[in-house]
Amino acid sequence: MKRFVIAIDGPAGAGKSTVAKLVAKKLGFLYVDTGAMYRALTLKAISENIPLTDEGRLIEMAKNTKIELQNNEMGYRVLLDGKDVSDAIRTEEVSKGTHFIASILPIREILWKIQRELRERYNIVMEGRDIGSKVFPDAQLKIFLDANVEERAKRRYLQLKQMGIEGDIKAIEKEIRERDEKDRDRSISPLIQHPDAFYIDTTGMTIEEVVEKIVSLYIS
Ligand code: DC
Repeated sequence: MKRFVIAIDGPAGAGKSTVAKLVAKKLGFLYVDTGAMYRALTLKAISENIPLTDEGRLIEMAKNTKIELQNNEMGYRVLLDGKDVSDAIRTEEVSKGTHFIASILPIREILWKIQRELRERYNIVMEGRDIGSKVFPDAQLKIFLDANVEERAKRRYLQLKQMGIEGDIKAIEKEIRERDEKDRDRSISPLIQHPDAFYIDTTGMTIEEVVEKIVSLYIS
């Protein structure tokens, strides 16, 4: 029997990670953050001084990289060639550079393989941009999480504030619009809503409400 997959796609800042983690916890599923995999490869390229425009070297690098996503009592950790990079992949530099890596098809194919293999052993909540459209078009439940740009910028601003960083809300909005464009307009595996996906606009909804909505779709 095919393991159950809940695919959660949507733009940056729509709340995918927070919601996907909680849904996975509630249902006892494995949580998989595919963005972390693209980020980990970007971090490696930056640390090894490989230009993000050098596709050949980046593909070679990706073939020789081990990425592991660990879910345990320590929380959720991302290992790059055995080293914990969970925090290092969240910097602005990595966020800005990841779209180069994400637009290279052979690299996406390497990551798709890792992502698909997980289903052989686990029921999964997987979040990203192309989970319902490319990785698991046969996922039993597909969700497209969205929120308007102003709301997503506000959430990011508050997140930064919690980390002691005073952000500029207009600059954050601009950056979100630019990332949206890059995710939606690329020719390889762009962010699209699969026709089977349930669209949830989380603007004005609490995290708990979104989680409950997804769990109720799973149960029904
Ligand atoms: O979800 P995130 O912001 O951590 O994703 C980081 C980058 O990776 C973002 O630029 C989009 C890209 N990405 C992708 O192309 N495909 C995925 N399945 C997940 C993320």
